[in-house]
Amino acid sequence: MSFDPYDFRLQFPALARDDLIYLDNAATTHKPTAVLEAMAQFYRQDNANVHRGAHRLSARATRAFEGARHTLARFLNAPASEEVIFTRGTTESMNLLANSLGQMVLDEGALVLVDAWAHHATIVPWQQAAARTGATLKPIPLDSKGRLDEVAFAELLALGPQVVVLTAISNALGARAPVDRWLPKAQAAGAITVVDGAQAVAHEPVDLQALGCDFYAFSGHKMYGPTGIGVLWGRRDLLDAMPPYQFGGEMIQSVSFERSSFNVLPFKFEAGTPAIAEAIGLGAAANWLMAQDRRAIAAHEQALLSYARERLQSLEGLTLYSAFEDNAGSLAFNVDGEHHQDVGIWLDQAGIAVRCGHHCCQPLMSLLGVRGTCRLSIAGYNHHDEIDALVAALTDYLEFLYDDA
Ligand SMILES: Cc1ncc(COP(=O)(O)O)c(C=O)c1O
Repeated sequence: MSFDPYDFRLQFPALARDDLIYLDNAATTHKPTAVLEAMAQFYRQDNANVHRGAHRLSARATRAFEGARHTLARFLNAPASEEVIFTRGTTESMNLLANSLGQMVLDEGALVLVDAWAHHATIVPWQQAAARTGATLKPIPLDSKGRLDEVAFAELLALGPQVVVLTAISNALGARAPVDRWLPKAQAAGAITVVDGAQAVAHEPVDLQALGCDFYAFSGHKMYGPTGIGVLWGRRDLLDAMPPYQFGGEMIQSVSFERSSFNVLPFKFEAGTPAIAEAIGLGAAANWLMAQDRRAIAAHEQALLSYARERLQSLEGLTLYSAFEDNAGSLAFNVDGEHHQDVGIWLDQAGIAVRCGHHCCQPLMSLLGVRGTCRLSIAGYNHHDEIDALVAALTDYLEFLYDDA
């Protein structure tokens, strides 16, 4: 395998230091020079508002902004770039959908399914949409092994849900949902399908035409791109039929004091001045990722995660919640009897950044019977020495506990 995480890491200026082991990539990844430069160059050379500007700077900004949309369509293998809607991130993508699609397809007696490890960014917008329309939100439960329950899913589909939302990769556990097998089942049951790809985009190429979902949402900052930008991709016929989500400039065709008419896709869903530099940065991240050997990065990440799982499993006094072979990106654990925050502070003192808490998945934490966990989450630039350092710091912590006892 040609991939070298140490070489790869050289592309990330924020990691050029020896006092930080960054294992919080599911929260946000670091940014490569290619992304930083694309954004800096926009502000240095081209800064102007997009669309309708008469002057050349605006034309250049528009070309760069719309170019980013085309790049993202290619990155996702989307049928058309007009179906790529820029949002602030997964959360805004889900709010847009729950408001607009929710208004269109939910009413009294309708049903929305979300998986048991859904992020609050999925649960809460759909819960609110259900409350507004008289629909019901139900979770797809976990089975006794902690996977999404296939039998329960079939029973829930038999109830004829209008919308099914699946989280491709759980941010709290790293577990994968069987989207390839389940999306066709949900569609056969008549549901509109939505995939939360917030964690998936960073770890595997996305091919929307192969996947066959109706909507796909993700954030730029978890795939080496900037914060403040993300995407909602949707099937054109559905997006065309949906009402606008926010109102104002850009999203209109004509306005009078009596009435307004609305723009075509994608502008109908992009009210106001967009996050121009961020969209350009996200386009740069997508271009940069497409130029990497993604298969090799994924293999490296998988090897690293297996190694971390084995090493953590060997520690007595530590409970691992992410026990599956096909996890991606993250592993969750607790030191038995210890508050996750205390463990996080200990690790921080050793220069190791992990995330501790409920990971915006409180319902999942209830199912696991915990208030929170510690989560390590990796990216291509992490390496085995960093896992060894984490295990050494946890070993010290356990020794400190047992010495104290
Ligand atoms: C699976 C998943 N969905 C949704 C979100 C929300 O993403 P954002 O905060 O970027 O909108 C996250 C963020 O952690 C996530 O991991």
